[in-house]
Amino acid sequence: MKHRVLLTGGAGYIGSHTYVALVDAGYDVVILDNFSNAAEDVPKRLKDLTGQDTTVVKADVLDRAALDRVFKGHKIDAVIHFAAYKSVAESVRKPLAYMQNNVVGLINLMQAMDDAEVRRLVFSSSATVYGAHAELPIREDAALSYANPYGHSKLICEQIIEETIASDPRWSVGVLRYFNPVGAHPSGLIGEDPAGVPDNLMPYVAKVAAGELPVLSVFGDDYPTPDGTGVRDYIHVFDLAQGHVQSLNALERDGTGHIVNLGTGRGYSVLELIATYARASNRDIPYKIAPRREGDAASSYADPSLAKAVLGFEAQYDLFDMCRTSWVWMQTSTQTAD
Ligand code: WQD
Repeated sequence: MKHRVLLTGGAGYIGSHTYVALVDAGYDVVILDNFSNAAEDVPKRLKDLTGQDTTVVKADVLDRAALDRVFKGHKIDAVIHFAAYKSVAESVRKPLAYMQNNVVGLINLMQAMDDAEVRRLVFSSSATVYGAHAELPIREDAALSYANPYGHSKLICEQIIEETIASDPRWSVGVLRYFNPVGAHPSGLIGEDPAGVPDNLMPYVAKVAAGELPVLSVFGDDYPTPDGTGVRDYIHVFDLAQGHVQSLNALERDGTGHIVNLGTGRGYSVLELIATYARASNRDIPYKIAPRREGDAASSYADPSLAKAVLGFEAQYDLFDMCRTSWVWMQTSTQTAD
């Protein structure tokens, strides 16, 4: 009997890649998405990729009645919760919207799950809960903090989950703390599709490579790192997707939850990423050194050993794969001539 998984935000960047990995792993999947940060044709592209019809419910996690209808209309065994706002910069401008969408959205979802007797959850968290000064490599027992409303909302969600589990042991939850998801499905059919000018490095570099943006600003070259620019643990979105399948499998197998980092354990600097992207795309990437960005850490990379021990997770793709698949996606989504 196939287990059926509800993906909230399943038409989004990480959700859509996880959808493909779940179908490949033999799960039935229902997507719930309000399409506020996903193209309307993603379900069609997912059907092309998997060869199976996609079951999509257009709804918002802030709409409790819509959530109840989904659980009444589909026999759901587990939920992966992606639906959240995720821009650090935007969260500083709109803290109330971030708290409402990310925190109230989670509360709505967990209450609807509880009423429907569905208590197996994988939660999309973030390395931002470690704040900007964690000891490296970052372990899951590092002190938790936040440096912006986005990270704060994720920390509050983790605390709500912890308190819910303490109140009712029937819950089993996998909390996955993502480092820096980048790259795209090798087919070029799905990928990161940020509206407007991207905040994050890889999609910005992709637009510079494609000639859609003239130059990249490197936010600081005076950090205490090998080349002075910021170091991050970039992880291929397809590795990340596999980590979600392994988290679900572990919840089903163990009946208990886990909190794990999903990263490669390897940090790359901004200049290393630029050079790798230039190689992968065969394009020049013009850049200029600019002032540091408020709140940025010098370095952030994971200790991935707990995810390996608990889930059997191990990242397979390297930075060149991440850049190459990003470039293939950039070309297919903007029809850029190679
Ligand atoms: C990476 C590096 C910048 C843009 C954030 C969130 C995290 C996750 C990913 C949601 C840093 C430098 C960037 C640019 C640059 N989001 N940079 N020029 O800040 O590590 O993580 O996004 O889940 O939760 O915190 O990612 O890609 O913005 O920055 O020099 O135009 O690239 O200074 O060193 P970040 P990023």
